[in-house]
Amino acid sequence: MTRDSLSETAQRVLRLNDTGKFTKPSPRQYPHQWNWDSAFIALGLAHFDLPRACVEVQSLLSAQWRDGMVPHIIYPTAASDYFPPPEFWQTQNLPYAGNVQSSGLTQPPILATIVRMMHDRVPSLGFTREVYPRLLAWHRWLHTARDADGTGLPCLIHPWESGMDNSPLWADALDRVTPTNLPAFKRRDMIHVAADERPLGPDYERFVHLIDLGRRLHWEPRALLGQMPFLVQDVLFCSILHRADEDLRALAIELGEETHEMDAWLAHTRAVFDARFWDDTQGLYRDYDVRVSEPIRVNANAVFAPLFAGLASPAQAARLVADHFDNPSEYAPDGDSSFRLPSVAKNERGYSARRYWCGPIWIQMNWIIAEGLRRYGFTAQANAVVRDSLALIEQSGFREYYDPRDGSGCGATDFCWSAALALEMLAQQDISTPMR
Ligand code: DGY
Repeated sequence: MTRDSLSETAQRVLRLNDTGKFTKPSPRQYPHQWNWDSAFIALGLAHFDLPRACVEVQSLLSAQWRDGMVPHIIYPTAASDYFPPPEFWQTQNLPYAGNVQSSGLTQPPILATIVRMMHDRVPSLGFTREVYPRLLAWHRWLHTARDADGTGLPCLIHPWESGMDNSPLWADALDRVTPTNLPAFKRRDMIHVAADERPLGPDYERFVHLIDLGRRLHWEPRALLGQMPFLVQDVLFCSILHRADEDLRALAIELGEETHEMDAWLAHTRAVFDARFWDDTQGLYRDYDVRVSEPIRVNANAVFAPLFAGLASPAQAARLVADHFDNPSEYAPDGDSSFRLPSVAKNERGYSARRYWCGPIWIQMNWIIAEGLRRYGFTAQANAVVRDSLALIEQSGFREYYDPRDGSGCGATDFCWSAALALEMLAQQDISTPMR
């Protein structure tokens, strides 16, 4: 694929997956609506069809639960060969759930950031006014219903909530999860994607077991915080939320709304973030396992996410770049790998170049990381990430993830957020600046 045709093909992929109301992440592997996928997709759609981008956001928010939660999978369409099917979650008829069939989990709250980007480019007060209260309710839910320790940092109750579903980050926490009385189920995720690019059987059983526990607790937030064996505060999720709180605050100002609540969240997160996540010995951020009150000592590329949120000091940012981003044993290209940025540091025990979230490159992580690097003035590094992202797509098409060694595509095909973010990267970035 040449760079000239990239934008055209990206639009074609978004159209191919368009159901009219929402966009499937990919035609076969993910045939329903996913939360943060839809947010990135809206950003891509906004480049050539703003009204359709607004519909994408509206349809996602129409599945919001009464308590504020915005679910991670929404099932507006009928049957598919995807597992888990809608009824598996047992979310129907809960007093605090929504009217649309959905999972009982949430996903990284990037949506307010995307809505702000859309609004800044083409101000649309009517649309922004309509979605703002729903975004506010979701953020409020995250800072309160998922706050286990008074820090206001939300806890995740399932690896799927992190978006990094199968990362080695979760290995130790999942080791303590023993599947018992597993409900009958049949994996479907290896029908359209090779088994060695998907999670291993024992991990998948734990994912299903955690869903089973969640549904037995009726997805009631206090019960989940009290009883789910997997309870984690995640650097990527909390960074995305902090950035989204900033963006929600900017939208509030545009709309003439109060900002007190957001001011408090922003101040609170800033006050606790380093104490909770920063590892000064290694010069990076660590997730936190709330169940055992211990940092999670795994180096995944989410360590760069606080740059996206402006949460790092200049000195912390400089260490992240010098010791990790530019380090060929971790994230920089070396004799064995040619592309940035593996999802897990190459010298991690759990690194695996093609397996789901264990090492492959993801375009949405690259976008978040490039934005963060740019925010701190690391323009050449940001451009290098963008250049590699576009090169991967040119070489291997719009895939779900990519092998950092040779750039070959893995996972689902015709993958929408790769297409959406290619449009964004093409429009935004100067890809010609050389690495410094
Ligand atoms: C899956 O089925 O692997 C999805 O990523 C869950 O969100």
